[in-house]
Amino acid sequence: MYAQALDQKDKGPAVIEDPERLARFEARCAADEKIEPKDWMPEAYRRTLIRQVSQHAHSEVIGMQPEGNWVTRAPSLKRKAVLLSKIQDEAGHGLYLYSACETLGVSREEVVEALLAGKAKYSSIFNYPTLNWADMGAIGWLVDGAAIMNQIPLCRCSYGPYARAMIRICKEESFHQRQGYEIMLTLARGTPAQKAMAQDALNRWWWPCLMMFGPPDAVSEHSSESMRWKIKRFSNDDLRQKFIDATVPQGLFLGLTFPDPELKFNEATEHWETGPIDWSEFKRVLAGEGPCNRQRMRVRRQTEADGAWVREAARVHAKKRAARQALQAAE
Ligand code: 3HC
Repeated sequence: MYAQALDQKDKGPAVIEDPERLARFEARCAADEKIEPKDWMPEAYRRTLIRQVSQHAHSEVIGMQPEGNWVTRAPSLKRKAVLLSKIQDEAGHGLYLYSACETLGVSREEVVEALLAGKAKYSSIFNYPTLNWADMGAIGWLVDGAAIMNQIPLCRCSYGPYARAMIRICKEESFHQRQGYEIMLTLARGTPAQKAMAQDALNRWWWPCLMMFGPPDAVSEHSSESMRWKIKRFSNDDLRQKFIDATVPQGLFLGLTFPDPELKFNEATEHWETGPIDWSEFKRVLAGEGPCNRQRMRVRRQTEADGAWVREAARVHAKKRAARQALQAAE
């Protein structure tokens, strides 16, 4: 039933749902039941998932760009092979996630179009440049490390296809994180110049990684609804804190320092405390003013245009096959 609705966070046309169905749905979420594609779900739940899962898919695909930049400059054949396969994993993650999104009744073309039209977001983190080889280590250790912290709870998300896609994705992300840390360890134990590269990468990636978890809870517009629906299991700030607590000791073990003079361990709470995050930088990046936003979208649009002939060939092939099958069935 479509009509005016209050408290509509998903920005689509307002919908008022049948209260009884809605109550049953809320009870299923509260009871930790999985919601499957053919189950009834409120429009706002469906739209929230399309928004989050499609943005997640876009992030995986655009996330290939900063690393792709280093495939031809990897320092050894082994590093090159690992980097290539990691980037291919990210493409695969994008594909699982676009498929999960399609189970919600939206086509892959539609969500990609929303990205290309600038209506859908992708993760802020991929708008930063990769300036030296140590950035491949920092991305694996910190960016993939942050991604896992955020994504492990998504394996228990209420929407079945998303939760199942996340299980495989997290296994691969975990390998990505370890290979990144191993690059950092090698550099940190290497020559003074190599250690300086690792330090420089940590300095540049630390704060953007903390921003990756999203705005503070107090201003996170979707969190309360998404947590009630068990799409999100932890708040943005809780996950950020878990990441900080897990990562600071790893950085100290590398013999590196964090670019935060206020970073300290609170003995009473047993948590690491950071200085204030510069949320104005996060807002600028989301508004398209990060160091690489324009470049990332230019490349993404170009690859879409370059791939048009492949999609067209696949469409023609599918049409011919369907016609052949229809003919055979008629014989
Ligand atoms: N970058 C860009 N936009 C962000 C963001 C970030 N780091 N964090 C939040 N936002 C956006 C939200 O999308 C939302 O905008 P919208 O209404 O236009 O969609 C707005 O800021 C408000 O934030 P909320 O906290 O209210 O939004 P959510 O409840 O959706 O929480 C999230 C944000 C925690 C990122 C959540 O969407 C999520 O967990 N998403 C799934 C994981 C994901 O997308 N990760 C991206 C990285 S993938 C990756 O890193 C690949 C790996 O290979 C490294």
